[in-house]
Amino acid sequence: MSTKPKPGEDRLSELTRRRQAAALGGGQERIERQHSAGKLTARERIELLLDPGSFVEIDALVTHRCRDFGMEEQTIPGDGVVSGYGTIDNRLVYLFAQDFTVFGGSLSETNARKITKIMDLAVENGAPVIGLNDSGGARIQEGVASLGGYADIFLRNTLASGVVPQISAIMGPCAGGAVYSPAITDFIFMVEETSYMFVTGPDVIKTVTHEEVTMEELGGAASHASRSGVCHFTLPNDAACLLAIRELLSFLPSNNLEDPPPSASEDPADREEPALDSLIPDDPNKPYDIKSLISAVVDDERFCEVHEAYAKNIVIGLARFANQVVGIVANQPAYLAGVLDIDASLKAARFVRFCDAFNIPLVTFEDVPGFLPGTQQEFGGIIKHGAKLLYAFAEATVPKITVITRKAYGGAYCVMSSKHLRTDVNLAYPSAEIAVMGPEGAVNILFRRELTEAGGGREELRSRLTADYREKFSNPFVAAERGFVDAIIEPSQTRTHIVRALRELDGKRQRLPNKKHGNLPI
Ligand code: HXC
Repeated sequence: MSTKPKPGEDRLSELTRRRQAAALGGGQERIERQHSAGKLTARERIELLLDPGSFVEIDALVTHRCRDFGMEEQTIPGDGVVSGYGTIDNRLVYLFAQDFTVFGGSLSETNARKITKIMDLAVENGAPVIGLNDSGGARIQEGVASLGGYADIFLRNTLASGVVPQISAIMGPCAGGAVYSPAITDFIFMVEETSYMFVTGPDVIKTVTHEEVTMEELGGAASHASRSGVCHFTLPNDAACLLAIRELLSFLPSNNLEDPPPSASEDPADREEPALDSLIPDDPNKPYDIKSLISAVVDDERFCEVHEAYAKNIVIGLARFANQVVGIVANQPAYLAGVLDIDASLKAARFVRFCDAFNIPLVTFEDVPGFLPGTQQEFGGIIKHGAKLLYAFAEATVPKITVITRKAYGGAYCVMSSKHLRTDVNLAYPSAEIAVMGPEGAVNILFRRELTEAGGGREELRSRLTADYREKFSNPFVAAERGFVDAIIEPSQTRTHIVRALRELDGKRQRLPNKKHGNLPI
């Protein structure tokens, strides 16, 4: 399509013609191809994402400047990305949607400028940025000009990190270096079956390492949600994905100087949950589902779980207590006994830092037997990865509340937002076991000689010593005597205690020592 004026055409007609061309993108045939691939177009996606009629487009008439490979004859206003601002629940957001019908949504120099323009506006005006990705990557005809455009975007992603929430939805291809923009953003959504992300695709992998892997296995939504942990949310189609982004934003402030938006739940602040008094099994080796505790205590049982399919031994997500948004971090005894491993540490650490950056108080539910033993973990660097979670909790200055429901053993006790890391309110259930290690392990080490010498009476001695140790240390009272927990509470009253603590901490002001930045053990 040509954007050149037609002979005798007046300006208003020319404007209408150019706008229509922009609206049509790559043309009807390519739009139909997009639909038959199970995908919506960039404009249809924006329509579903934003409040009706709120979209204001910017740079609709931008065209590329490439004069190679016959590109001068192919200019389409908008140049493969639709960008601008609008509202979600009446709150301002900036967004861009790559238009796969125009040169495969590939990134040209001018297309990148459009994206960086709205990113700059988002930071200046304190509003989230949402990127809907559906692109064949760098515009091949433009070479390094396109690569420069990517780097310009990466820089802005980095500078905006911790200033405004950044959300990426992968709704088609996202490959090569292009993945690094979403990777820096706070949350990645992927659409099942129609999206994929990888640094090098199946063909290159086959050539270099001789591994055979399909596109879906390598970079599909399921792989990134459960194996790599790159993606936080997967949804079955475009419409569900866009609705889920709206839902997530309802929990987030617009920028780092604001609080999360108010809500209007009428769930009573002092609601008791008698069932919680019997949730924790008497047998410490029996699992229970921490998610049933979470949904019982938060407003209206509404828990927006993040990273649901990844590192299930820790549960993270957003919820509200008496209309105040909190970030929840909880060990999950129902999966690997809630042990901390590399993946769980990474998953929780980044979430804690997100919450801290955006004024979201942290509520931690702790039931952790310790760190996962094994060479895989040690060689994989559990030392530095576990340290990230410790660092994140220690550094966080938002209100912090911890509830120890059962096990709080060893280093994991320290890491999981313990009093020693400046957690404001530390509570424990009567079922809490706070000690250096579990009674069985402790007895094996402390009484090795006695057990060896006991001969036939070994098992009887072991069970007596274990019971003694449990009696002495596997309880919350020793920690309470030292003030490491502030109170031991009835589980049924968990919600009341958390709401009370959040209100108490409303005016919390805590500063880190002046520094350029810390040196997180990355
Ligand atoms: C220019 C592109 C393009 C690109 C696709 N198109 N990718 N044009 N630059 N990167 C065009 C196609 O020519 C085609 O134009 C239209 O978009 C749709 O592409 P199809 O191939 O017909 O679609 P499909 O079969 O769905 O395949 C999609 C695809 C494939 C898998 C993404 O197009 C593809 O492999 N593209 C190249 C990917 C790539 O190598 N990109 C560069 C990677 S390097 P017509 O006119 O026929 O509709 C990179 C580095 C970034 O991105 C580094 C940042 C640091």
